[in-house]
Amino acid sequence: MNLKDKVVLVTGGGSGIGRATVERFAAEGAQVVIADRNRDAACDLAQVLGDCALGLEADVSNPASVKAMVQATMQWRGQIDVLVNNAGFGITGSVIETDEADWDRLMATNLKGVFLCSKEVIPIMASAGGGAIVNTASYTASAGIANRAAYVASKGGIVALTRAMALDHVGQGIRVNAVAPGTIASPYFDAMFAQSDDPDALRRQFDARAPMQRMGRPQEIANMIVWLASDEASFATGAVFTVDGGSSAW
Ligand SMILES: NC(=O)c1ccc[n+]([C@@H]2O[C@H](COP(=O)([O-])OP(=O)(O)OC[C@H]3O[C@@H](n4cnc5c(N)ncnc54)[C@H](O)[C@@H]3O)[C@@H](O)[C@H]2O)c1
Repeated sequence: MNLKDKVVLVTGGGSGIGRATVERFAAEGAQVVIADRNRDAACDLAQVLGDCALGLEADVSNPASVKAMVQATMQWRGQIDVLVNNAGFGITGSVIETDEADWDRLMATNLKGVFLCSKEVIPIMASAGGGAIVNTASYTASAGIANRAAYVASKGGIVALTRAMALDHVGQGIRVNAVAPGTIASPYFDAMFAQSDDPDALRRQFDARAPMQRMGRPQEIANMIVWLASDEASFATGAVFTVDGGSSAW
């Protein structure tokens, strides 16, 4: 994959898809910054991985925090070759059921967070001659799904922003792509299942939503993210790569 000693910044790297992505990059020999709002999750994972990792508390919705995150990364290894804009969360509800404050809070992390982090990192990549950005979108951006209006809108925004950034920075050697996961068994869903009256029944319902009859594993998304960041994907930019067990083919 040619990722040895590349410096990779993963937002939301303390859990689920982000954590699996951090682990896969580390296994490929990269130097990985784990940036997460959850400080303990980021630092605990960094400690397990050792010298190749740095854990940072960062909030991608906050411009000052994003600047500090990028500065700390530069102080640590002096370059940023790969940015994975992965931090995000979901809320349920139609438009009429979604509070304006909740809409703003979700957009501030899921969509504005991609803008803020990219805005800080792109000049660094450009002055080094290039880099790769991978954004975590969702298959729901194109397939649509009920009862997730704000979340789906944020992911649609990420898809559009991915294409715009790819075209704006292709001349600087920066590739920008998105991965569109299907439903992935991450701590986010574990927490949701745990709150229901019958967690096992709800989990089986989710499994049945994909033609493969199961939820995906975080590692199955990490594999695509790492590939997109690598030189093996050298002709891929401005594209969305769906990894959803066939859900959007239904
Ligand atoms: N799990 C799925 O089925 C699924 C499907 C499609 C897309 N996604 C997307 O994948 C990404 C990761 O989701 P996951 O399922 O691994 O969730 P997760 O909850 O396991 O992990 C998300 C991580 O992001 C961090 N985070 C949240 N807001 C943050 C902020 N403002 N700043 C910094 N860190 C923040 C959390 O602390 C957490 O560690 C999200 O963007 C999510 O929308 C997930």
